[in-house]
Amino acid sequence: MIALYPGSFDPATIGHLDVIKRASLISDKLLVAVLHNANKATAFTLDERVEMLKRLTHKLKNVEVISFSGLLADLFVKCKANAIIRGVRTISDYERELVYASANRSINEKIESLFIPADPAYLHISSTIVKEAAYFGGDVSKMVSPEIIGDVKKKFAVKDQRED
Ligand code: PNS
Repeated sequence: MIALYPGSFDPATIGHLDVIKRASLISDKLLVAVLHNANKATAFTLDERVEMLKRLTHKLKNVEVISFSGLLADLFVKCKANAIIRGVRTISDYERELVYASANRSINEKIESLFIPADPAYLHISSTIVKEAAYFGGDVSKMVSPEIIGDVKKKFAVKDQRED
């Protein structure tokens, strides 16, 4: 099975990495696909997000990191994927993912989506929370892997004290 795990990964969290590891165990090949969306501002460039993910996954032999723009459904066909993987933490995640899965399936009925329930230890972790915490100088060492913590700290390094 070729599984496709798409996302913004801005940046990848330990929750993402957990989903990658678990998905790699149930697939022959896992393609982690980083979205390049010109309309959406990201903290990390596409190259930075891809490079960090490569660093995080280089030991996982059946995992490959790629980037994409445009429709996920088109990438699915191009990669000859069998399933899309998405991690689900909360009910609101589930509601959003159900809509994405249905939209993708209405574009191409062969697209199957598989949801991996987040490890309870990671329910509160998201890229948004990581960025917000890091912006205000909070400790994100329990939210991102040691391999990329320096990148996150550097991105949000502050010269002035932020008070507002
Ligand atoms: O990590 P994210 O930001 O929650 O990932 C969202 C992602 C990349 C899965 C979604 O935005 C996506 O698939 N974008 C590509 C455009 C697309 O195909 N949209 C869904 C059908 S209209």
